[in-house]
Amino acid sequence: MPKFIIQGQKPLSGEIEVKGAKNSALKIIPASILSEETITIKNLPQIEDIGKALELLSFLGSSIRHSGSEVEINTKNINKSELEPKLADKFRTSMMFVGPLLARFKEVKFPHPGGCVIGASGRPIDLFLEGFQALGAEVKVSGKFYEIKAKELKGATYFFSTVSVTGTESLMMTATLAKGITTLQNCAMEPEIKALADYLNSQGAKIKGAGSPTIIIEGVKKLKAGTFKIVPDRIEAGSFAIMAAASKSDITITKCQPEHILSLLTIFKKIGLNFEIGKDWLRVKPTKNIRPYNIKTHEYPGFPTDLQSPYTVLMTQAQGLSTIHEIIYDRRLLYVDMLSQMGANIIMCDPHRVVVNGPSKLYAKKLISPDIRAGIALVIAALIAKGTTEIDNIYQIDRGYENIDKRLRDLGADIVRV
Ligand code: EPU
Repeated sequence: MPKFIIQGQKPLSGEIEVKGAKNSALKIIPASILSEETITIKNLPQIEDIGKALELLSFLGSSIRHSGSEVEINTKNINKSELEPKLADKFRTSMMFVGPLLARFKEVKFPHPGGCVIGASGRPIDLFLEGFQALGAEVKVSGKFYEIKAKELKGATYFFSTVSVTGTESLMMTATLAKGITTLQNCAMEPEIKALADYLNSQGAKIKGAGSPTIIIEGVKKLKAGTFKIVPDRIEAGSFAIMAAASKSDITITKCQPEHILSLLTIFKKIGLNFEIGKDWLRVKPTKNIRPYNIKTHEYPGFPTDLQSPYTVLMTQAQGLSTIHEIIYDRRLLYVDMLSQMGANIIMCDPHRVVVNGPSKLYAKKLISPDIRAGIALVIAALIAKGTTEIDNIYQIDRGYENIDKRLRDLGADIVRV
């Protein structure tokens, strides 16, 4: 298993470019099932999860021409509506294939999707199932598989009892080819949802309101060909900005959209960080005294759960107490134990809240990356720690960040993959 070996406390500086958003690309790829014409996707991040999504699509019978950050997909010859269990098992986003397959073929069979370990009970899919039922589908569970069938999908009103990003995207895609009007209420509002709706509309879909809590979809019979450029990854941008602040470096983050991380940048002001923003760049400069500030994760436009772990590392370098309150997931603070082993002064109050007492000197340790976001947080901690840190299970970092070791080396980091 590859590992990262990181020699901490090396000065970092320069420019780092943000890649296309993983959590946009992972929806645009399955959305290609909604059209029988050729789809071109640009600015695709070259990461593990994208490879798996394309493999799943290819298994269904699609033709795929993938070169670097661009892919051309044609799903006309899809010849099955069943997700390969070995592939679907491996990542939760396999669930994003279910709605488009149901919309196009009126039936789909799939195993409970796998993924990382951040939610209890294997991360539920009840909202998806309820939504499909609202559109007129029947859901059966047989053994480890779900089978969903519909004679016809009909527009309906569905209220999300919990705000869900992938739930919103899934029902929005499914309703695109349903008969009549679907109204989705209490929707998630992430920029990737608006990007998906804009893209589907460019192919002939009729979606209004994406990016707000109510989305109205007027079903159409089919979608045309389309070209989509993946939006910049706001979580990468935010993680790099936090890395620059925690390591007191002067780093410019390019090809990003700072307006997508206003929740973070607002806090940057409150904690006294020295930074500048432009339309598509963000420069973080060294700040001597970082003030502590409490955060509570929230759905967009609130503070993203995906930046909670890097922010916690930053707070280990702040002057005083801060509380980190994770409200989206119930297993997303377990990594703090590793920060404590590195010398951070962190008290776990309950599974959802920790108190960080900064500033602390961090020391190198042998660590294991538990999930993508905690993984990048450990990389940041290792970059500021004294000594040589070893991070195992970096598969859980590669899933989300393209070629991260090379990109960090270009900033001056001493990080090698062995
Ligand atoms: N939930 C349910 N039932 C469902 C679906 C979700 O109860 O059927 C609950 C979840 O357990 C969670 C809450 O709803 O407590 C919100 O989860 P959501 O469905 O919004 O998360 P998601 O759509 O599965 C996406 C991102 C996550 C990101 C969250 C929150 C993708 C592929 N994943 O997940 O990204 O943390 O939204 O912003 O878009 C990551 O990139 O590392 C990652 C985990």
